[in-house]
Amino acid sequence: MSTEKILVTGGAGYIGSHACVELMQAGYDVIVIDNLSNSKPESLARVEKITSKSLVFVEADICDKQALSDIFSAHDIYAVMHFAGLKAVGESCLQPIKYYQNNVYGTLVLTEVMQAFAVNKIIFSSSATVYGEPDTVKYTEDLPVFGATNPYGKSKAMVEDILKDLAQADSLSNTENPWKIILLRYFNPIGAHISGLIGEDPNGIPNNLIPYVSQVAVGKLEQLSVFGGDYPTIDGTGVRDYIHVVDLVKGHLNALAALKNTSGCKAYNLGAGKGYSVLEIITAFTRITGKDINYKIVERRTGDIAEYYADPDLALRELNWQTEKSLDDMISDTWRWQSANPNGYE
Ligand code: NAD
Ligand code: UFG
Repeated sequence: MSTEKILVTGGAGYIGSHACVELMQAGYDVIVIDNLSNSKPESLARVEKITSKSLVFVEADICDKQALSDIFSAHDIYAVMHFAGLKAVGESCLQPIKYYQNNVYGTLVLTEVMQAFAVNKIIFSSSATVYGEPDTVKYTEDLPVFGATNPYGKSKAMVEDILKDLAQADSLSNTENPWKIILLRYFNPIGAHISGLIGEDPNGIPNNLIPYVSQVAVGKLEQLSVFGGDYPTIDGTGVRDYIHVVDLVKGHLNALAALKNTSGCKAYNLGAGKGYSVLEIITAFTRITGKDINYKIVERRTGDIAEYYADPDLALRELNWQTEKSLDDMISDTWRWQSANPNGYE
């Protein structure tokens, strides 16, 4: 068991709260900084309930240099898991400044303060969206980071560049405390903790497939629009690599262990390596929950790609990580959370 202190930015959010659980259960001490712009403190109360342990929560913005400095002064931080960020693709197209400010500037402030306190280890929540639209459906890490189609995706690619430059600067300067950076490119995280106590709690009408389907199943929304039925895929609907959020955060713990022997900046895909279509998801959801999902096939959504999934081999080889949970686990865990908490944390 480790007793190192981990700063979790965005720890009250969907993925961050699951990361807190796994970290605390593995013996780490957790300090969360979150401005609650897309989350509720109740998620952290539930994390404490699941783990029977307490964490330190600081309600602050990562753009607030003084607040961050106070945290690093008060705690001997071993590494940072950096989840804080805005993630709504459509909103990012309408409000690009907000996205670059929060995601890019926020990371600049964070890394500046880390450097000032000689904390050199960071794991960053990146996204498969940084690959843009390559000529292949199976994404490997050596594909160029190029052509993200919206400000959200571009902000992730920019942060990756900044972090790569930090590592590059070390290689030019013989520093005694070089950066150790892992970029984790998530595919489509879904599911919830098996307790049903924490899960995804989107504000307003969900943009993503699984939260939308769950809210149709629970009776909050009437009908799912399936965006496109004429893609060159198995049944004409979009195909994605869905990954259980608990598998995803376990990948972060393996990355944390790997950071000890990492030098510079390395990127890994976190995905299952297999895709499912929208119709396959709907069918599985109905089979597992017994709820019929009312849906209609409509026009394609601008910016969507037909099909892609991860090549997860590098993460297996170098992080000793692979997904363990099935699609049925992802859906039954989503449903346990959604049906027990139809209004999320409210
Ligand atoms: P989320 O919105 O549930 O969690 C993000 C958390 O960060 C929220 O609690 C929010 O309040 C907080 N936050 C945002 N800006 C902040 C700031 N400036 N200062 C302090 N706190 C701030 O999102 P999530 O799904 O848990 O995603 C976590 C990370 O993973 C994000 O960076 C996201 O871009 C990335 N990611 C998510 C997905 C996905 O499908 N969920 C896919 C790829 C990458
Ligand atoms: N879909 C629908 N109806 C909906 C919502 C989605 O048919 O109401 C379809 C989409 O067209 C797509 C699939 O379901 O084929 C998955 O869509 P999501 O919106 O759930 O996820 P995306 O793959 O579009 O995007 C997600 C995250 C992005 C991230 C990307 C990385 O939302 O932030 O994965 O792979 F960049």
